[in-house]
Amino acid sequence: MVNILFFCILLTITILFVKNTTSIHCVFDRRCLCYIKADLQYVNCSYTNLTSVPSLPSTVNVLNLKYNRIILLSNGSFKNLKHLLELDLSWNKLKRLELGSFTGLSNLQKLKLEHNNLSLKWKSFPLGVFAPLKSLRHLNAKYNDRNGFLACTNVITNLKQLEKLEIDVDESPDCPNIDKGFSKLTNLKSFRTGYCDFTYLASYTFENMKYLQFIDISRCSISEVHDGSFQDQKQLKVLNISHIDFDIYDISTIVESFRSTPIQKLIMTHTLRDTVSLAWDNFLNCLKNSGIKELQMGGNSFVYVIGKYFLPPTLEIFDLSYNNLNKFQFEMPNLMQLKLQNNGLGKFLASNRYSKQSSKRLEYVDLSFNVIHKLHFAIFHDHPKLKTINLSHNILTEISFDFSTLRSLEMLNLSHNKILAFSEESRNAISNIAKSYGLKIDLSKNNLQCGCNQLPFIQWMLENRHIFIGIDTYRCNWMNNSVLTIFPLRPIVLQLEKGMCFIYRFDCM
Ligand SMILES: *[C@@H]1O[C@H](CO)[C@@H](O)[C@H](O)[C@H]1NC(C)=O
Ligand SMILES: *[C@@H]1O[C@H](CO)[C@@H](O)[C@H](O)[C@H]1NC(C)=O
Ligand SMILES: *[C@@H]1O[C@H](CO)[C@@H](O)[C@H](O)[C@H]1NC(C)=O
Ligand SMILES: *[C@@H]1O[C@H](CO)[C@@H](O)[C@H](O)[C@H]1NC(C)=O
Ligand SMILES: *[C@@H]1O[C@H](CO)[C@@H](O)[C@H](O)[C@H]1NC(C)=O
Ligand SMILES: *[C@@H]1O[C@H](CO)[C@@H](O)[C@H](O)[C@H]1NC(C)=O
Ligand SMILES: *[C@@H]1O[C@H](CO)[C@@H](O)[C@H](O)[C@H]1NC(C)=O
Ligand SMILES: *[C@@H]1O[C@H](CO)[C@@H](O)[C@H](O)[C@H]1NC(C)=O
Repeated sequence: MVNILFFCILLTITILFVKNTTSIHCVFDRRCLCYIKADLQYVNCSYTNLTSVPSLPSTVNVLNLKYNRIILLSNGSFKNLKHLLELDLSWNKLKRLELGSFTGLSNLQKLKLEHNNLSLKWKSFPLGVFAPLKSLRHLNAKYNDRNGFLACTNVITNLKQLEKLEIDVDESPDCPNIDKGFSKLTNLKSFRTGYCDFTYLASYTFENMKYLQFIDISRCSISEVHDGSFQDQKQLKVLNISHIDFDIYDISTIVESFRSTPIQKLIMTHTLRDTVSLAWDNFLNCLKNSGIKELQMGGNSFVYVIGKYFLPPTLEIFDLSYNNLNKFQFEMPNLMQLKLQNNGLGKFLASNRYSKQSSKRLEYVDLSFNVIHKLHFAIFHDHPKLKTINLSHNILTEISFDFSTLRSLEMLNLSHNKILAFSEESRNAISNIAKSYGLKIDLSKNNLQCGCNQLPFIQWMLENRHIFIGIDTYRCNWMNNSVLTIFPLRPIVLQLEKGMCFIYRFDCM
């Protein structure tokens, strides 16, 4: 009886295991792996050097043919796969599709053709080749053709269900504009480019795609920006213009669009080419009524931003990390996350606050990697919601700022500094916050001292060790200059308490 029960448990475990995590070689083709997840049948034939589509049972739902050597998709390759939902043919050598290549895939929702060799040159896409794909919602055909063939033909335009499209774009005399046929794709919400070259970014660039909510033209080569380039994109929520070589006039021109167009998230990391000083007044003014929630402006060359600037009242996340900032001051009444890591704010923040007034909604501040040696005493005053402070990778030797008012603090990251010990005020403040809010502190990689002067600090650490993350890796400098791991602390404290400190004190007299 017990044996049978045991066997049953073992069997159940084994079946679950096969079902959820392990793939087994498929019975119909040993080169491929088969598994079931969430009631869907997956077949994975990636990295198997296939040169043609293998024959598969009609029950397959998700088919992965990535990283193979398929050159041609012959007529009817997928003819019986009427339950197929996803097909991944990316990273093959595809050169040409035939009119019947996708016949039978009437339920296919997602098709990936990324990184192949499908191009105008090979007349790769016969007109009507996508017609069988009546349910297709996501087509990824980017990184195929530097001439951006698909953007200026109407091959795609009968994909009425299409919501997400990723293709190459190249504005040229052969292909001056994204095809008019795109205006029929009324469900199209998301557009992302692969190879991409625009001579002009102008109001007509996206005029045939009026319903877009998400535009990612990052890494595009763009020669000129004209007025009103996004002003007709009334549904726009996210714009990604990162890794483009723009100057500040281009940015100003783009941002002008948002006086009349809503946008929630603007991503412009690594977008500006020189050391620049943006006209922040105007920039912020343009965004004031757009409903912007997130601004990602990391990896540019901003040097200082200071003045009586108010961030837009809707802004929740502001990222200026990886710039060259040596001064930064904004009023941020509604901001929730401030990311300033990897700048040079050390000198400035020693005697200034990053915000003069209350930051009443701020929950997260990242000031890591800023060469901070000291912080203004009141830097975190009027931060009633602050949960996380990251000060790691700086050169702090002590806590000189007041955080007794931080009633919501959950994480203080002080790793990789040069902290010797905490003062009595700091210890009291930490104990108080920790008691009510479960504050955690990361104090790894500092310069902690466990000599006599620091006896109260070491005793306190021992009592409060649950506050310190990774305390078993902390090291401290012992009186004879050798470095000890601080954990377990008790023997150190005992040794100190056992009169050793009195002897030292005596020595000094
Ligand atoms: C498919 O198989 C390849 C090669 O065996 C493996 O590297 C990859 O992680 C698998 N992919 C999935 C989604 O299971
Ligand atoms: C695919 O071909 C490459 C190069 O010829 C070879 O190194 C690799 O082992 C082959 N992979 C399989 C799964 O046969
Ligand atoms: C593929 O099938 C289509 C009809 O579905 C036909 O028009 C075309 O000529 C066929 N191509 C080849 C190479 O057989
Ligand atoms: C595309 O095909 C051409 C001609 O056969 C070849 O020179 C080129 O390397 C191919 N590109 C890729 C990415 O396979
Ligand atoms: C924006 O584009 C960059 C570069 O292509 C990419 O790494 C990043 O993930 C994109 N962000 C979003 C939110 O699309
Ligand atoms: C800073 O520390 C916080 C909390 O410990 C962490 O979530 C964040 O990723 C860190 N920032 C960087 C740049 O590593
Ligand atoms: C503290 O920040 C550093 C990087 O700045 C990060 O690597 C580390 O994971 C953070 N510590 C915790 C506990 O999140
Ligand atoms: C320093 O003191 C510690 C603890 O008493 C001891 O373990 C270590 O050997 C000493 N190191 C030297 C170099 O005297």
